[in-house]
Amino acid sequence: MFAARLAWGALRSCNKVIDLDCRKQIKDQSLSFFIIIYSCVLPWIDQVGSASSRAFSTTLNYHIETKENKSDSHWDFTPRNMEIVEKIFSNYPSNYKQSAVIPLLDLAQQQHGGWLPVSAMNEVARMVGVAPIRVYEVATFYSMFNLKKVGKYHILVCGTTPCMIRGSREVEAALLDSLQVKRNEVTRSGTFSVGEMECMGCCVNAPMIAIADYSHGAERYTYNYYEDVTPEMAVDIVEMHRRGDSTSRNLYPVGTQDPRRLRCGPSGKCTTLRGVPKAPPCRDLDAC
Ligand code: FES
Repeated sequence: MFAARLAWGALRSCNKVIDLDCRKQIKDQSLSFFIIIYSCVLPWIDQVGSASSRAFSTTLNYHIETKENKSDSHWDFTPRNMEIVEKIFSNYPSNYKQSAVIPLLDLAQQQHGGWLPVSAMNEVARMVGVAPIRVYEVATFYSMFNLKKVGKYHILVCGTTPCMIRGSREVEAALLDSLQVKRNEVTRSGTFSVGEMECMGCCVNAPMIAIADYSHGAERYTYNYYEDVTPEMAVDIVEMHRRGDSTSRNLYPVGTQDPRRLRCGPSGKCTTLRGVPKAPPCRDLDAC
């Protein structure tokens, strides 16, 4: 990005001194120059993004043709998932098929081990009858859609302020250290990956992590929150998933890990709202 800005700055200063007639030509050249710069540095930017854990919360959204992710390869829902597709479509009027884009992408991601190849997005676009770009727009906007391979268990650490104040960075550091990966990387075995998500709506029980389980396709897909976690607990929870140990699930149930808290209630005794609330209107309107 820095190199591109530098190049742009240099071209702009050139523009000032070069004859006006040459400007159009220079602009055309600068555009080609930009395209070259971007295609050269994007892979590098991505590497830096994974290397420096605070640089990017999600992986960059662009497509590079690879053996595993080819735009012209064939992708289809399984016959079993086609039944779910039919159900999803039945939720919308037949002239609003495009409303099904998000649930279909979600199902495709579950079927495809946690990420969306471009061929799956193309298939969703075909099914709902929109241009593929409309589906790419949705998939690149929502960080829940992974455009690159993730682990069978994709762990998301909340990085927003309440979780950060309550120690989410330490939680993430402990997970990355125990799995020996960088953020947005997949472990060698392909079992785990760690990503960051912004506020997952669970701030009251911060810090929290979510684990998306893609190990058994769409049939047994789960997406669970573990709240009030410490770095040690987060590592234990991941190990529990590695072992597939159902007995440990009593020790680390889904939801809050604070035994003094009931769901999202206060930890310990209630300090507010202890009496029977007044019937609406709840505030004294005459007091204003
Ligand atoms: S800040 Fe982490 S859930 Fe809201």
